[in-house]
Amino acid sequence: MGDLERMASTPAFAAIRDEIIALAGLKPAERLLDIGAGTGLLTLAAAARVQAVSALDVSQAMCAHLERKCGALGVENVEVLHGDAVELPLANDAIDVVLSNYCFHHLRDADKLRALAQIRRVLRPGGRLIFGDMMFRLGVAKRRDRAVIALLVKRVIAHGPAGLVRLAKNALRILTGRWERPASVEWWQNALRQCGFVEVAVYPLEHEGGIAFARKPLD
Ligand SMILES: C[S@@+](CC[C@H](N)C(=O)[O-])C[C@H]1O[C@@H](n2cnc3c(N)ncnc32)[C@H](O)[C@@H]1O
Repeated sequence: MGDLERMASTPAFAAIRDEIIALAGLKPAERLLDIGAGTGLLTLAAAARVQAVSALDVSQAMCAHLERKCGALGVENVEVLHGDAVELPLANDAIDVVLSNYCFHHLRDADKLRALAQIRRVLRPGGRLIFGDMMFRLGVAKRRDRAVIALLVKRVIAHGPAGLVRLAKNALRILTGRWERPASVEWWQNALRQCGFVEVAVYPLEHEGGIAFARKPLD
């Protein structure tokens, strides 16, 4: 939890939060869903701008943490939901805007597609989805992937011997299939279109991240 709070308080995460909120163009009467709400980075920024927020996380500990935070801050329009992105506990067409930040790289590709299908189901026609995530592939075929991986390795090595140990641990996790599963900008563009979204726009950020916008068609 401490690690997530530290990450959420970095300037890079604040910048992604601000970009997602700006792209969302939130309106006071809207109902919002934050998937993988974690520390509440998006939830707390959005709560003051909309009618109601459902903040969903698969971790019971993160849900309890966010509930405590909302209580301490006196935020009353946030409902914390314990649940999984691949099986959203919400009715069809119940939500105007879905937001998410740095959650989807925890999901296998097949589950990313299941989550997109669920998002499309709970969004009202014309509703929108905006999310940030790691966006690159663990491979060296593409120039951006090579550059991102080199940057991440350099960042870890800068931590000296502790960084080298972390690098070795991450290499082991990659080899045994237990590392995060980021997808590329191109993968997300295809997946969003394949799942029936329109107005799809996905773009990389300066670092390993990227941001996506998509809309559920009006029918
Ligand atoms: C890196 S944290 C990001 C938290 C927050 N969105 C932020 O920007 O600070 C990822 C969060 O996604 C949650 N998560 C991972 N897999 C999930 C899933 N399948 N469904 C819902 N939440 C999930 C984790 O429990 C964690 O709280």
